[in-house]
Amino acid sequence: MSGSLAIIGGTGLAELPGLTISKAHDIQTPFGSPSAPVLEGELYGLRVLFIARHGHPHRIPPHLVNYRANLWALQKLYATDVLAVNAVGGISKNMKPGTLVVPKQIIDYTFGREITIFDGEFAPVSHIDFSYPYSEKLRELIEKSAQNANEKVINGGVYGVTQGPRLETAAEIFRMEKDGCDIVGMTGMPEASLARELKLNYASLSLVVNAAAGKGTGAITIKEIDDHLNVGIARVRNIIDELVKEFYLKQ
Ligand code: HPA
Repeated sequence: MSGSLAIIGGTGLAELPGLTISKAHDIQTPFGSPSAPVLEGELYGLRVLFIARHGHPHRIPPHLVNYRANLWALQKLYATDVLAVNAVGGISKNMKPGTLVVPKQIIDYTFGREITIFDGEFAPVSHIDFSYPYSEKLRELIEKSAQNANEKVINGGVYGVTQGPRLETAAEIFRMEKDGCDIVGMTGMPEASLARELKLNYASLSLVVNAAAGKGTGAITIKEIDDHLNVGIARVRNIIDELVKEFYLKQ
């Protein structure tokens, strides 16, 4: 694999410790400003780009993230591959809090977001193929990196993307489960389809931080989410370290 790796950090990953930052790019795009400056630096000798999806400090809710600007800025800085880190709720039995998942499919329940760069004005109308929303190559690389890092990940599953910022009702989760969703989060779309529009290889590493509504023992608490984030993000970091090394080997 050649080209530059970019990481979109989600909740709990607003910075990438260990990244020796050489530049913070304040990029303006045809779609406005990205969530934060794009950091360019080196990790294990490899050029890596990093952007905090919710800004740094964390201040932009999922429905207000400028996904178009974020992806555009990464592409402008020559990213070819994008690892998106997402915090999610677990729906299926095997998606217990603390689980790491490399989802394979998406169902999009979001609305009212800016979902395309092909708006007819900026770029001619175009309909991308999105049958398989994630890059299989990058998914495999993440799985291999997880093995190298001795971190267990579930390879596969359907990520249902909701609008937020509120969490779901138990009935909504029940419906999503019947639809085939395994995990639920608020940031998987339109990020994934915009990446495809921009011809970026994109995959997600999702961390289950709570049982989805109606799947746990009571209300979902921020404390529960934070506890799982603290432990889980360290594991995500281990996988990213290995991913960078794997990616480097593939250059
Ligand atoms: N629902 C939606 N988004 C989430 C959840 C959830 O339960 N947990 C973390 N992000």
